[in-house]
Amino acid sequence: MKNGRHLTLGIETSCDETAVSVVADGRDILSNVISTQISIHTQFGGVVPEIASRRHLENINGVIDKALSDADVCIGDIDLVGVTYGPGLVGALLIGVAAAKSIAYACDIPLVGVNHMHGHIAANYLEHHDLEPPFMSLVVSGGHTNIVNVPDYNKCEKIGGTRDDAAGEAFDKVARVIGLGYPGGPKVDKAAREGNREAIDFKRVWLEPGSYDFSFSGLKTQALNYLNSERQAGREINVNDVAASFQEAVVEVIAEKAVRAAAEYGQKRIVMAGGVASNTRLRELISEKAAAQGIDVLRPSPVLCTDNGAMIASAAYYAYKAGERSGYDLDAVPALEF
Ligand code: KG4
Ligand code: ZN
Repeated sequence: MKNGRHLTLGIETSCDETAVSVVADGRDILSNVISTQISIHTQFGGVVPEIASRRHLENINGVIDKALSDADVCIGDIDLVGVTYGPGLVGALLIGVAAAKSIAYACDIPLVGVNHMHGHIAANYLEHHDLEPPFMSLVVSGGHTNIVNVPDYNKCEKIGGTRDDAAGEAFDKVARVIGLGYPGGPKVDKAAREGNREAIDFKRVWLEPGSYDFSFSGLKTQALNYLNSERQAGREINVNDVAASFQEAVVEVIAEKAVRAAAEYGQKRIVMAGGVASNTRLRELISEKAAAQGIDVLRPSPVLCTDNGAMIASAAYYAYKAGERSGYDLDAVPALEF
């Protein structure tokens, strides 16, 4: 507690960012330190789990210290520790969980384990101070693509998800195939701005009528087949056109289903979350489709779309207020469900 405000320390180490933040009253970011490992993993074309764990271990204490000093508080001012315990890479998650448990024990303060995906949604409470449930949420990240009805702070009802690859995963795979490299999402987004989104007819996979599920695994094969046939025919490949056409096939299905879900559940707002929520064309298309139905679209700024400790602190705060507590036996759950 400092100046009468409840302080939560949020710790996030599920993938390739060591991230720690101090958040006041679940809404105000006092500090948000993100130590990214992207440059290390880039040379391998993706995240190497063993290296990620080792880097988290090396970074975590320094990142915690910086989060406290940036917020101008000391460890004794912290009232609650929130930490991502899944889903994610097991070795990476364990570093954050062990650090959080140690702090909770040493300072004798409560500990709350947070589902990383709930954290992504909570990023919106930090960006939009008046936002309260109910709303429909679209969580699109490297590991997940979910449409989630959120009737209350601590209730998430998943109504659709991917049956194979996540949206971000599809971006990353296709980026690799067309030579754009890792991390693929932002690179495809940029290349697509210079390309023709109608150049190549990538399939829209709608699945059964009324389904809110997704399937993106066929897109990589389609991209590969297209590249092979063009090369065999001796034609030059326009990477920007491939990026724009592929991106359109992904975001059109996501935008359409998210808006349909909001309309069917009578929700007046769609709250976007996760790394892919930064995608320029997805934001544009979903806003157009939602506006036509009188639905608002909210999303966090890019720094809060990607993994960060602040979103974990906010989710932990609302779980804590609802009476949730984790014990010192809190463990990493790599395949934690929504
Ligand atoms: O949420 P996030 O930072 O980490 C996970 O929890 O997965 O999401 C990372 C994913 C990556 O697959 C990345 O390529 C994708 O989000 N991404 C994007 C964009 N920025 C990040 N995908 C499409 N367009 C973007 N602008
Ligand atoms: Zn994430």
